[in-house]
Amino acid sequence: MPRIYIETYGCQMNVSDSALVLGLLRAQGYVRTDDPAEADVLLVNTCAVRDHAEQRVLGRMGVLKGFKRAGGVLGVVGCMAQRLGPALLEQVPQVDLVIGPDGYRGLPELIARARQGERAADVRFQPWEHYEDVPAAREAAGGGGGASAFVTVQRGCDYRCTFCIVPMTRGPERSRKLADVVREVEGLVARGTTEVTLLGQTVNSYHDGEHDFADLLRAVGGVAGMRRLRFTSPYPTDFSERVLAAMAQTPPVCEHVHLPVQSGSNRVLRRMLRRYTRERYLEVAAALRHAVPGIALTTDIIVGFPGETEQDFEETVSLVREVRFDDAYTFKYSLRDGTPAVKLKDRVPEAVAGERLERLIAVVRRVARAKNVALVGTTHEVLVEGKAKRGGLLQARTRGNKVALLDGPDEWIGTYRRVRLTGTTGSTFTSWPVAQELAVVG
Ligand code: 5AD
Repeated sequence: MPRIYIETYGCQMNVSDSALVLGLLRAQGYVRTDDPAEADVLLVNTCAVRDHAEQRVLGRMGVLKGFKRAGGVLGVVGCMAQRLGPALLEQVPQVDLVIGPDGYRGLPELIARARQGERAADVRFQPWEHYEDVPAAREAAGGGGGASAFVTVQRGCDYRCTFCIVPMTRGPERSRKLADVVREVEGLVARGTTEVTLLGQTVNSYHDGEHDFADLLRAVGGVAGMRRLRFTSPYPTDFSERVLAAMAQTPPVCEHVHLPVQSGSNRVLRRMLRRYTRERYLEVAAALRHAVPGIALTTDIIVGFPGETEQDFEETVSLVREVRFDDAYTFKYSLRDGTPAVKLKDRVPEAVAGERLERLIAVVRRVARAKNVALVGTTHEVLVEGKAKRGGLLQARTRGNKVALLDGPDEWIGTYRRVRLTGTTGSTFTSWPVAQELAVVG
């Protein structure tokens, strides 16, 4: 049987797409291997969101081409493949095939052609593509086998944030039919999944022509046996009253939302073509906190966007303090060819952006630590996700998305326990079990 090796970079949707790719190839008789040295087909599922992500992949290609055997195939798939297309074949002569996120159905054919010595790129958008009939090989892809699973409900993006390459790499927005999503979730739950994360670029703008995101939350949350429902990433202004009500009234919906703000300055938000002001964002955060008391909020922030002044940056810092985010992913702006922001003047020097990033991270950490210290002593339901990296402990997660380490037998992996948080490093927690395993409800 031919062996497939795949490396996945970037977001959760890429993890989910890798499961699709493996599912497609499994149907063709492939088995997965974790060892590139024994692979017949080597694939890299790539990210294009920042230059750094692409440089990492190019570095890995340099290593992986060394594992390509005679008659073997080396392929690049995903967002960087879509962005560079045939140019990637020229840039890396050992690469045999290049396929964008809408072209995975063509993978077996392009692999067969590569075996004949033909190198090819397929970067056409297929605006109807949901891979509806492809059974994802989640166990094999990591990031969701067992108790937790990612479920893509929307592909592509119709927003035009000026910094972002995703509309160019993932094509137009489209939503799966609600009934198809529910059927998939029912199948997952029947095989032991209790936590589902719905994925989409602007997931709360989900609309299948008939049903909106509120309907989807209620329908998926209503599947018997569903214990935790998460979604990522939402767009701030797509939290309608209906969606807020659905979140509040659907018990499995977890008390955590990742809500990318990007900047706290209205000037910068306008240049980014974000569809809200700082004030509107604060209203959305308040509405979420009102609808779901105790909800944890995390965010994404870009510093050094063209035209960002010291004063703009300080408004971002003050927003972090005002919202009191539980955590934030912070990025230095990375110029992406093909995005509207390429035309913007007043680029921020690298050193200035780097210095702002450091200051921002310090504030994010301080705010997060204060929030986390206040949680020490409280009790939470956690899902035990696996072994911790160090110390022979288990790693678990609260509904609010806090990571807690605890001492317990491996049999606890995949189960829900009740723990008391006993200490914090500022970001993660130590914890202590306070009761027997909780019965699975529903
Ligand atoms: N430069 C830096 N960060 C970016 N992001 C998206 N595009 C860029 C870019 N060109 C960040 C945003 C987004 C996250 C996934 O990546 O913060 O929310």
